[in-house]
Amino acid sequence: MLPISAVVFSAVVSGCFGQNETFPTWFLFGAATAAYQIEGGWYAGDKGESMWDRLLHSNDITLDSSNADVACDSYHLWRRDIEVAKELGLNMYRFSISWPRILPSGFPNQVSEDGKKYYSNLIDGLLEKGIQPVVTMYHWDLPQSLQDLGGWANPLIATWFGDYARVLFTLFGDRVKYWITLNEPLAICDGGYNKMAAPFLDDMKIGGYLCNKHVLLAHAAAYRVYEKEFQSLYYGKLSMANVFFWFKPEKTTDDEATKLAIQMWEGRYAHPIYSESGGWPPELEKILAENSKKEGYPYPRLPPFTPEEIEFVKGTYDFYALNHYTTRLVRKVDPEKAGSWPYYGCKEIGVDFVNDPTWKTAVIDWFAIYPEGLREQLHWINKTYGVDQVMITENGYPDLNDDLFDVQRMTYIKTMLQQVLLAINDGIHVMGYTVWSMMDNFEWVTGYKTKYGLYAVDFLSPNLTRTPRESARFYSSVTKGRRIPKYRVLVDYEDV
Ligand code: BGC
Repeated sequence: MLPISAVVFSAVVSGCFGQNETFPTWFLFGAATAAYQIEGGWYAGDKGESMWDRLLHSNDITLDSSNADVACDSYHLWRRDIEVAKELGLNMYRFSISWPRILPSGFPNQVSEDGKKYYSNLIDGLLEKGIQPVVTMYHWDLPQSLQDLGGWANPLIATWFGDYARVLFTLFGDRVKYWITLNEPLAICDGGYNKMAAPFLDDMKIGGYLCNKHVLLAHAAAYRVYEKEFQSLYYGKLSMANVFFWFKPEKTTDDEATKLAIQMWEGRYAHPIYSESGGWPPELEKILAENSKKEGYPYPRLPPFTPEEIEFVKGTYDFYALNHYTTRLVRKVDPEKAGSWPYYGCKEIGVDFVNDPTWKTAVIDWFAIYPEGLREQLHWINKTYGVDQVMITENGYPDLNDDLFDVQRMTYIKTMLQQVLLAINDGIHVMGYTVWSMMDNFEWVTGYKTKYGLYAVDFLSPNLTRTPRESARFYSSVTKGRRIPKYRVLVDYEDV
């Protein structure tokens, strides 16, 4: 192979773009990160221990035996992060607040001065550059003190989260207009109780479903606190970021199974909030109750909501926050034989996920590249729940190499943005689009091996140097022109 000596990315913005190829003036371009994945400073100041700190300090479970004690050291390098956001031309930067950094004990008896200062500086620094902070209140780093009390399986967590939310709204509500209560309840519960993430328990059947109910009550508690005490002061918007693969049937005979899979992985977390009736998706609740009965449980493993709880959770959104990555085909199978995916849900409803052989995949074999899935999913959300505003809070492309010349990521983002534009032209109000991730970071159980960054981070350099990849150059030309540039990739070879 000939070495690449110079790689030139050139964005050729032609004059022939029509109105509908331009992103509307109100559309927000963003990029995202999360506290545990970038901050480091795990014990700086009076920060409390998180459940990820505990998990990785006492177990060797990441692919490269790493942890996030230092990560991108954003605890110290936040000024550089703001510069990166500015270089990318972002309108919004989505980051998360570490609960134990603000409340070292997990409870509001003590609010950390260091934590307050850190996030306050970050928010002010972003606003000075004209970048909206989009703040996630919980991106998986639960205070260990609360995990010791049962974490998301304890119903009191809804109150604890509401108390934590009140502290955040009081401290930062004057400056933060977009709040994401929880990132991906599916990952919190189905991941955390399926040994894929902290607390790394193998207890989906009971603990996972308790968690399901409590994340929804916790989200609603935070929403209700804001609605009652802060909305009339600050006029912010709140939502919870839902992740789910978009699903399509493998064959027409898989149509019903596909509808059920969508309810299992998405409706379980969306129906209680966005549907008119509220509560669990009825068909799913029925199946899970039948399964529980067959297994000899005297009550459904998915805990029912009371009528008051249904009302409490229903309607707790100002927009739909969607994390979208990929699309899977659904195949109906015998529940006993289901198992292509580690989620326990496959066994509950009798499905497997497969790839469409015509779709390319990223380095991770289940990560199929089917950009049309994003538009289809936006339509489904709009049609099913009648939500008129959707924000894409994550979308990104994984790779295993450090290359700065990341054409695949660039192409993935470009084709996803094309689908966003089409959806907007279809009449769906997509408020904004957020790339995961602004920079390489600690990728949970895969450690530092998987790269999602627009910026590469040199984890071996003393300054954890952040360097733009080609996808970053591409994205900044999108944010500046507010349209998808026609681009050429010129590669000069040495020794030709
Ligand atoms: C999560 C991120 C994670 C990304 C890539 C998302 O679902 O919110 O924390 O890094 O996926 O794995």
